[in-house]
Amino acid sequence: MNLLVTGGAGFIGSNFLQFIYEKHPDWTVVNVDRLTYAGNLENIAHLSNWDNYSFIKADVCDKQVLDKIFEQYQFDAVIHFAAESHVDRSILEADEFIRTNIYGTYVLLELSRKHQVKRFLNVSTDEVYGSLGPTGYFTELTPLAPNSPYSASKASADMLARAAFHTYKQDIVITRCSNNYGPYQFPEKLIPLMIHNALHDKPLPVYGDGRNVRDWIHVKDHCEALLTVLLHGEAGEVYNIGGNNEQENITIVKKILAILNKSEALIQFVKDRPGHDKRYAIDATKIRIKLKWEPKIPFEQGLFETVEWYVKNQTWVNKVITGEYLQYYEKQYSQRIKI
Ligand code: NAD
Ligand code: DAU
Repeated sequence: MNLLVTGGAGFIGSNFLQFIYEKHPDWTVVNVDRLTYAGNLENIAHLSNWDNYSFIKADVCDKQVLDKIFEQYQFDAVIHFAAESHVDRSILEADEFIRTNIYGTYVLLELSRKHQVKRFLNVSTDEVYGSLGPTGYFTELTPLAPNSPYSASKASADMLARAAFHTYKQDIVITRCSNNYGPYQFPEKLIPLMIHNALHDKPLPVYGDGRNVRDWIHVKDHCEALLTVLLHGEAGEVYNIGGNNEQENITIVKKILAILNKSEALIQFVKDRPGHDKRYAIDATKIRIKLKWEPKIPFEQGLFETVEWYVKNQTWVNKVITGEYLQYYEKQYSQRIKI
């Protein structure tokens, strides 16, 4: 297999590369990443011994440069992770989300067609379905109803991928996964942010009443599902991926504090995220029945190991938290006064 991975220096992409290195070290893999604040070579430093692997710093919106890369490598498949991924940032300023997530996906689809790539996996999100009430699940037939600029940009990318399948008969598969956690997640997202703040006895900002629900999945389980869809998914199909693990945010925050033996007095309820989706829950029956994939890592174990990883990898955290991030954090939380 000759594979293009986009966004492989980010959280899920770097875990996916590690996963492929362990499972298919014979594959030729090219990682194209622009190295934004969320992309760090530190995340993939351990791949330096992998002979068949190359890293290219490039922007997925740069059609000319990417055309040359496609020409040179003649990929069999593309797995497209590269994106702006943080909902709160999209609410502050969405330009980069529109550019990378929509135009970048368009560029990759066009070049995949031009260079006759055999399979394109668009890594999407359950957020394209919008928000659930207290009951029910997202299935692949749930209508798209994105609520944030981030999820609207991801839904747009999904629509372009769908159009490429229908119009040009390109071999496209789309995955929609729920919230990932695990090593190398940038400390702006709920779990690593709370671990980091708790370790430094800083306030843990919980939005609203903390009762919003997410369906958490360990990143390794997501990577295994992605590989399964890449190899065995049916062209033109969408596959939901979930952890079968609904948790209220406040429960997770309290679990992290308990693991670290820190006081719940650190919890600070702050102003809610505008348009905050109440609940996500995935019905993953399709991938379970058709492709025989199921999540394996129990949440209590995965969360414990993740907290342990962040405790042991403080140097990594300090390297990825740059001045740009600190500026963002200040802007974000100055607007979220305590309630
Ligand atoms: P991330 O923010 O950690 O990583 C994104 C990566 O994309 C970074 O390495 C960044 O440098 C790169 N990138 C951004 N813009 C680029 C551009 N213009 N050109 C090239 N590279 C660029 O994101 P993540 O959490 O690893 O998410 C990866 C993908 O999975 C995204 O498409 C996201 O929408 C999707 N997803 C994430 C989750 C989750 O819980 N994190 C769940 C479901 C789906
Ligand atoms: O569902 C999949 C999506 O999960 C992915 O598509 C996104 O890329 C990924 O970022 C994630 O989106 P969320 O918005 O659900 O993740 P986040 O970690 O930002 O927030 C999780 C929940 O925690 C959400 O209800 C908001 C809340 N939260 C978040 C932060 C950062 C807080 O209460 N306080 C915080 O400081």
